[in-house]
Amino acid sequence: MKLVSKNFDVPDSHKLAVCEQNGGYTRIRKALEMEPQTIIDEVIAANLRGLGGAGFPAGRKWSFLPKDNPKPRYLVVNADEGEPGTCKDKYIMTNDPHLLLEGIMIASWAINSHTCFIYIRGEYVKQAKILEAAIAEAKAAGYLGDKMFGKDFPLEVVVHRGAGAYICGEETSLLNSLEGKRGWPRLKPPFPAVEGYLACPTIVNNVETISYVPWVIELGGEKFASLGSERNGGMRLYSVSGCVKKPGVYELPLGTNLKDIIFEHAGGLFEGRRLKAVIPGGSSSPVLTPDEIDLPMDFDSLAAAGSMLGSAGIIVLDDTINLVEALAVLARFYAHESCGQCTPCREGTGWMRKILDRIVAEGGRSVDPANLERIAKNIIGNSICPLGEAASLPVIGFAAKFPEEFAEYVARGETAKPSTTAVAAVI
Ligand SMILES: Cc1cc2nc3c(=O)[nH]c(=O)nc-3n(C[C@H](O)[C@H](O)[C@H](O)COP(=O)(O)O)c2cc1C
Repeated sequence: MKLVSKNFDVPDSHKLAVCEQNGGYTRIRKALEMEPQTIIDEVIAANLRGLGGAGFPAGRKWSFLPKDNPKPRYLVVNADEGEPGTCKDKYIMTNDPHLLLEGIMIASWAINSHTCFIYIRGEYVKQAKILEAAIAEAKAAGYLGDKMFGKDFPLEVVVHRGAGAYICGEETSLLNSLEGKRGWPRLKPPFPAVEGYLACPTIVNNVETISYVPWVIELGGEKFASLGSERNGGMRLYSVSGCVKKPGVYELPLGTNLKDIIFEHAGGLFEGRRLKAVIPGGSSSPVLTPDEIDLPMDFDSLAAAGSMLGSAGIIVLDDTINLVEALAVLARFYAHESCGQCTPCREGTGWMRKILDRIVAEGGRSVDPANLERIAKNIIGNSICPLGEAASLPVIGFAAKFPEEFAEYVARGETAKPSTTAVAAVI
């Protein structure tokens, strides 16, 4: 069964006429006959979780909008998609931009918002153009603009391109960036639903989350919920990359077994290779060992296993991969992307990068694993936004689960170190 990926392989699926031949814009027509609160109730019943990373229930977030605030409300679609290992939103925007627009229309009607921003990562030039063209088509058809489907309900959708900063995927940095400010995270609370864009109530949702909203309306909340696992409704897109025969984006129910995703859907490993490790939910989710992957891919099961479902970007690492080098690549990414606003993340990510780069280049020292763990643990809980945690969890996970890989480097580094007698002789 396919929902958001149903039209991915249909030729010209990004065009309005083709989308409408395949069921597009039927759900918004149905939704406009429903009371906004009924739509929110259906989304709650659907157990639709936020699919950008945190998994917060979408309907509950919508119901946090203050009822008595006279300011305008905004919907912001997070299309920043910066988490390494994740490329699902790109597929939706490339292949079915009208599905996203239909989701935006339904969500806007439900929360009574007349302006939606799609904040899209700067590198997604092609997708930004596709979205612009889809918005123009929808406007020309009278689906967007002063009167949505002829109803006295104006709705404008604005595509706003980012400039390539991972931190701008964090919702409050995104809002600052949207306001023309430096993309630095804000302290929460207040949460965006209460004080977001221009201090107005704002719902920030991921592209995929919003794209499932038409399906909640089509199937009904209860049926949608039943497709997934307990408290994790429906399906989702899993991006699978790394050492598998068929890397790609797969739409499967929430709760699908991780082992099956890797070995059945993604074709398994190349001949003669052995599985070494799996990063299950984008690069910031704690790594799993081969013994730990027989588990349902949903938010609660991954949390219970000490990891995270996150953006469901599954990175498969086989025995040709040097895990210390892989971790050093991640550490470089997070040190580069730390925005620098708060000290533990700015300094800590830099220290972890330096230590890992040195280990890889020159070998390690016996104190390195403990130092890495100490730095990582000191960042967690002490940074303004979760980027610090995102940078630290992989370090803690790799060091704890693959100590032998670090031990090899330490042995090499300690052997290469000149002995004190040799140093004395030189002096
Ligand atoms: C460093 C960082 C980067 C993030 N990047 C993204 C992103 O690229 N796309 C996204 O949807 N959410 C991202 N998030 C999560 C957002 O802050 C937010 O939780 C999400 O957009 C809410 O939408 P959802 O409830 O539909 O998941 C990121 C969070 C952090 C801390």
